Amino acid sequence: MEKVDTETINLIRQKTDIVSVISSYLPLTKRGKNYFGICPFHDDNNPSMSVSTEKQMYKCFSCGAAGNVFTFVKEYENIPFIEAVSILGEKCGITVKYNKGNTQVENKNSALYEIYELASKFYQNNIHSKEAKEAKDYLSKRNIDETVIREFKIGLALRNSSLLAKLLTSKNFTNKDLKASGLLIEKGLDYSDLYYNRIMFPLYDLNGNVVGFSGRIYNIEDPSKYINTRETPIFKKGELLYNYHRAKNEARKEGKIIIVEGFLDVIRAYTVGIYNVVATMGTAVTKTQAHLIKKMAKEVILCFDGDEAGAKATIACANELLNIGVTPKVVRLEDNMDPDEYILKKGQEDFFKKLEYPITILDFKRNYLKKDKNLNSIEETSLYVKEMVEELSKIDDDILRELTLKKISEDTNLDIEFLKEKLKEKNNIVKVEKKTKIKKETNKKNKYEKAERYLLYYMLQDKEVVKMYSEAKPYLPDTHMRMLALEILHFYKETGKVELADIISEINGREELTKSLNEIILLDLKETYTKEQIYDYFKVIREFNIEYEINRLKKQMKEETVPKEKAKLAQKIIELKVEENQK
Ligand code: UTP
Ligand code: MN
Repeated sequence: MEKVDTETINLIRQKTDIVSVISSYLPLTKRGKNYFGICPFHDDNNPSMSVSTEKQMYKCFSCGAAGNVFTFVKEYENIPFIEAVSILGEKCGITVKYNKGNTQVENKNSALYEIYELASKFYQNNIHSKEAKEAKDYLSKRNIDETVIREFKIGLALRNSSLLAKLLTSKNFTNKDLKASGLLIEKGLDYSDLYYNRIMFPLYDLNGNVVGFSGRIYNIEDPSKYINTRETPIFKKGELLYNYHRAKNEARKEGKIIIVEGFLDVIRAYTVGIYNVVATMGTAVTKTQAHLIKKMAKEVILCFDGDEAGAKATIACANELLNIGVTPKVVRLEDNMDPDEYILKKGQEDFFKKLEYPITILDFKRNYLKKDKNLNSIEETSLYVKEMVEELSKIDDDILRELTLKKISEDTNLDIEFLKEKLKEKNNIVKVEKKTKIKKETNKKNKYEKAERYLLYYMLQDKEVVKMYSEAKPYLPDTHMRMLALEILHFYKETGKVELADIISEINGREELTKSLNEIILLDLKETYTKEQIYDYFKVIREFNIEYEINRLKKQMKEETVPKEKAKLAQKIIELKVEENQK
């Protein structure tokens, strides 16, 4: 990877305002000198992340995430540091050249990526061959035309079931890789294809690489409509969303992301100009997927199949999202239709209207829970209230909560105050259960550990402390803290100042060091200090070192058998003790 010089990186950082960058990802509210928002790096509903204009840094008191504008974009977008630099550079007119190159993980699995890429090209070729007529007819019956076929790289596995095997074995792949791909079946010493006579829909990872396939039947009866490739190191179904790589920018632009179940629903939406849409691909939404959704846009619309299974999936997905502070909206489609069918049968205008007027998740749950209940029966009303109170307790939006309480009151003829009381009871239970454990680790640290950390804290606050450090040259016991101190000193010597936001860039990629630095950043200390205080840290650190040395010598003395040597060690220990008492 080409190395980008520090000056350029620092220049981009200076020209960039962290508050406006982070604001483009999530809402920030000003409180005092700083801005606050809901941290995107852990599950939370409270604004525990603060962003400082003055320091050009962010930190989260809850999960300990901290850094500068580059590390924020890097972590948020899941991209290399240097790519974050490049993206932000672009915005302020500075072009950063670097080799995009594969990340290490990709390198390790490069054979798998290559196999899938080859297979995808192979299947795509097939669909343009003479033998593809039937498949093409099927696709066109489903309103999937040539443009869509090319855009989504739709392909075809022919009837002959050894073609892909032939192609792949003719290349230099190892047997291990061929087996790991899951695309071939071992037949004695030979291989045959897993897929034959199916329309092949490639599945992409978050970066748009082909990492799997879903093969659909089209001209025969078969109990499995789709056959999916098995999970591999590069294909984990629960960690990706179909079309994520295309949808994420669109979603960010629109401030809205639409979630559907099937990838054909995505493809259909695409044909009518809706690009901010991803599919869960028929599995229960995982935590990872929920986080991916949260990252894309503030407004989330669930538009699952109109059948009972779709309703159940809506609830499960909504709950996963509510857990991480996202309140989705819901679009329901009549007559058990899925978005694909709906658009084809009712037309795109009708579908656009639906999307324009989604219902709240609570209205959806109300309808769902009311559907099979007789609200003239006390038992069933009681159950309905209990279920809805449970649902209400998951919602942070107080206006939505109030509006829904009113509706439940109308549904049941129960007084709204009574319902509020029920909700309060429920919330109290939830709070006790949740009772978050706030990390107070620094309090557990001993005197010496505190001294070196506090010293570093003030070194980062004021270059005067760096000068004091440079003169006294205390030897910090913790390796990483020691390296950090040297980094700060080095930065000061190079630039004549201490700029925490740039030091973060400087140590980027060195994980242990970054972890140590974050620990310092998260310390909650007074901004002001006295010189005596700093000298006191030096003293404590020196005491620790002497103590350490004394213990080491004592141990050595125990093992020493030569009396003369033993005496020498004893003498040294005495000298150290004198030194310790002097200062
Ligand atoms: P659907 O059965 O709703 O598929 O399953 P669909 O999108 O309507 O497909 P068509 O219109 O019948 O062709 C939704 C998703 O569940 C997965 C697929 O990813 C599909 O997109 N699925 C479904 C399977 O993996 N295997 C199956 O047998 C069925
Ligand atoms: Mn369908």
